[in-house]
Amino acid sequence: MKRLLFTLLLSGFAIGAFSQGNVYKLESGKYEGLAMTPPMGWNSWNTFETNIDEKLVKETADILVSSGMAAAGYNYIVLDDGWMTKERDKDGNLVPDPVKFPNGMKALIDYVHAKGLKFGLYNCAGTHTCAGYPGTRGFEYQDARFYANLNIDFLKYDWCNTEGINAKEAYTTMSNALKTAGKPIVFSLCEWGDNQPWEWGKPVGNLWRISGDIYPCFDCEYKHEGNWSSWGFMKILEMRKDIRKYSGPDHWNDFDMLEVGNDMNDTEDKSHFTMWSMMSSPLIAGNDLRKMTKETLAILTNKELIAINQDKLGIQGFKYSAEDGLEVWVKPLSDGNWAITFLNRSEATKKINFDWKKHTIKDTDFNMEANLATTIYKIKDLWKNKMIGSTKKAFSAEIPSHDVITLKLMK
Ligand code: GLA
Repeated sequence: MKRLLFTLLLSGFAIGAFSQGNVYKLESGKYEGLAMTPPMGWNSWNTFETNIDEKLVKETADILVSSGMAAAGYNYIVLDDGWMTKERDKDGNLVPDPVKFPNGMKALIDYVHAKGLKFGLYNCAGTHTCAGYPGTRGFEYQDARFYANLNIDFLKYDWCNTEGINAKEAYTTMSNALKTAGKPIVFSLCEWGDNQPWEWGKPVGNLWRISGDIYPCFDCEYKHEGNWSSWGFMKILEMRKDIRKYSGPDHWNDFDMLEVGNDMNDTEDKSHFTMWSMMSSPLIAGNDLRKMTKETLAILTNKELIAINQDKLGIQGFKYSAEDGLEVWVKPLSDGNWAITFLNRSEATKKINFDWKKHTIKDTDFNMEANLATTIYKIKDLWKNKMIGSTKKAFSAEIPSHDVITLKLMK
């Protein structure tokens, strides 16, 4: 009897200990190694905003594969804001909108996975998403388990309706929740750069936005009602100074989703795509793939430019020089190679005459140097996909307004 009492007491103690939470191990730190090169894929927001549904996702997945985009590297399909109902269910779970997704989110994700693609969802650190759907604040661990059960691969986590909360803490909480839920998920911080995520984001997530939203124009500011703007790609390119040293494999500066194929002409699209490649930005297409022209597809799938973006060194490019609207941007590559982009941001055609021998390019952030006076490089024109000689001879060309010429210097 005494022994029975003792056993009962012991098991009571054990239950007490368990009920205080000792069985649930909290993990911390992001999933490492999920984005060793900048993520590539497609996101619904830039074209469709909240007008998304199952048919769109399936058709987009089909075209990603049939068009060759998936083979070129675009392997994430990310559903942005608007995929859920306006309220959580009685247990506090998020609810995928049954009208937009009549067969359920799980079946759709399985469809995308069966095509060999990966799948992402969107939510927000605040009480509500930017479009007014339920935000994650206070539900971090519950939502992380929801995503893990759905088997998603990518979470974009936005920053609307977060008044009064600390960004580093909010993103760290969600990062830990994802880790604890146990399914490796790329964590995409969408905080717009207001709280310098590049300074604290590396252990927390795999990429972080550095700006407000992109707008499909070369260099405009588009003012919305209320006190916020969207930005032409040239504005985003130059919005933050001195942040390139924070970007690298598995922790990228994210210059926002692509507007290629949306409202700019092909020349500007080409320059936009080139600069995102030069900056090692994630390449997340944001156009309607069902309506894309062959020119748009050719830009998005330019193998040489994608190789610049996906170079394994993962060093973000920088502006080397600027004169009278003609800029020279450079990016160190693996194997001692360099990418050089001439960018004409002026309204007139410009003449380039670049005598390599007069230039030594120094990257002081990453301690790299190209001494063009002493080292001869072979040159490939990446948009023409053609070898064009070497740095022995000065490079001369004409470059139309808003256009680029991108060369690869090869040892
Ligand atoms: C913010 C983000 C965008 C998009 C929308 C959705 O503006 O920066 O990329 O996700 O919210 O509402």
